[in-house]
Amino acid sequence: MGILFNLNQYAIGLNPISKLNNQKRVTFTNNPNGDSFQITSPERLFNETAIRNMIAQNSELKKLLAENKIPIKLNMKELQELKTGHCRDTQEIASQIAKNLPIALRSEINIKALKEGALLHDFGKVLIPKEILNKNGKLTEEEHKIMNLHTEIGYNLLKNTVNDSEVLALIKYHHSNKDNKNSFVPDINLQVLNLADKFSALTEDRVYKKAFTPQQALTIIYGDVIKGDVHPFLYNALVKAVNDKAIQNPVNIS
Ligand SMILES: [Fe+2]
Repeated sequence: MGILFNLNQYAIGLNPISKLNNQKRVTFTNNPNGDSFQITSPERLFNETAIRNMIAQNSELKKLLAENKIPIKLNMKELQELKTGHCRDTQEIASQIAKNLPIALRSEINIKALKEGALLHDFGKVLIPKEILNKNGKLTEEEHKIMNLHTEIGYNLLKNTVNDSEVLALIKYHHSNKDNKNSFVPDINLQVLNLADKFSALTEDRVYKKAFTPQQALTIIYGDVIKGDVHPFLYNALVKAVNDKAIQNPVNIS
């Protein structure tokens, strides 16, 4: 691939032991108003009645929305597009990155939580006003602040329905792969999701940009590796995953 890493140099700062590596599994309540948890698919949460119930039950969320002057107006079209587009794509890329990690890190991946977290990571965008979400131009500082709240909103929407702290942490922190000392957070699932999200966003059309090719996206993300914002172990796994895809869909990344 023409890019060599001194991987040992970067090993510090990415602890393969996930602090969230408990053995909990994702469970969802079948009845959004219920308090008993049963295993079912997260797809069913992409449902207007379920979301309205999540809001009605959650005074903290209502306060967060009121404080930030965000109207309770569900953008179900956006949510459906995320479910079949960006979130599904991120889920697939995350699985492929995980598959291509060095064995010591791969063995710490909770693939079920990673896949559930990937599918739900942008769930909070259902409440972000569409004028901000689909703005064809630079966001103002205030709009940025609202946009950035999608992680907190998603977490709050789902916290009484998704009974897995690891999935909830992935939703809440998927844009925060560094801590306040600029070190990588030790959760390997979160690092994988963060990178998969970046790659998916770069390789799809958005209102404000055309899709980059996988090769261009890898070049852009390599810049993030140089800046220390993406861990080289993760980047290396992404490159391998793109190479694998090239078997069916040739991509020149040399
Ligand atoms: Fe996001």
